[in-house]
Amino acid sequence: MKEIKNEDLKKIYNEVEKCMKCEALCNSRLNVVFGRGDEEPDIVFVGEAPGADEDKQGLPFVGRGGKLLDKWIEKMNINKEKYYIMNALKCRPPENRDPLPEEKANCRDFFVRQLQILNPKIICALGRHGFGNLIDFDLKTPFGKARNKVHYYSNNGKDIPVIATYHPAYILRNQKEEDKVISDLEFMLGELEKVRNK
Ligand code: URA
Repeated sequence: MKEIKNEDLKKIYNEVEKCMKCEALCNSRLNVVFGRGDEEPDIVFVGEAPGADEDKQGLPFVGRGGKLLDKWIEKMNINKEKYYIMNALKCRPPENRDPLPEEKANCRDFFVRQLQILNPKIICALGRHGFGNLIDFDLKTPFGKARNKVHYYSNNGKDIPVIATYHPAYILRNQKEEDKVISDLEFMLGELEKVRNK
């Protein structure tokens, strides 16, 4: 776990560390996975839940999917921007299964408060679970339908644009779709510029 500088974020982290709401998750976790990156970010990436590498290191997106995300961030020059990475869930679901609705509900208060403090200019949702934690979205709907549109997440009464793209794990299995992620990130950066020029 990297040091958290913001005192309000640290307070939430301390609560997360003690959280025992999801029996299966807190009994098997090695670490809670809170977030990483700039604590006053312009962009927040929202993924699903930690995997095995993240659980070991206590940091989001540090495994194979994370390497791919880092590659996109570099390719699109997002590394020059202020960005932060977090997940819908703070603990690893056993065997990397999908998060259960009650697990997402249990973790939601942490998620909402964390985003309130981060107060980004734009959010990039990675995959359906991250997206579904921000925007009311039927998980049975083909996820591609969420792309190429600006959605809005109400953060303390302020509407923050949300752009959807594929989860890195999906692209690892479907490499021919990678160009779509690059075009979604371009779209996201264009929308970020619009917010900046408002
Ligand atoms: N997948 C996610 O959604 N988040 C992580 O942190 C790692 C893999």
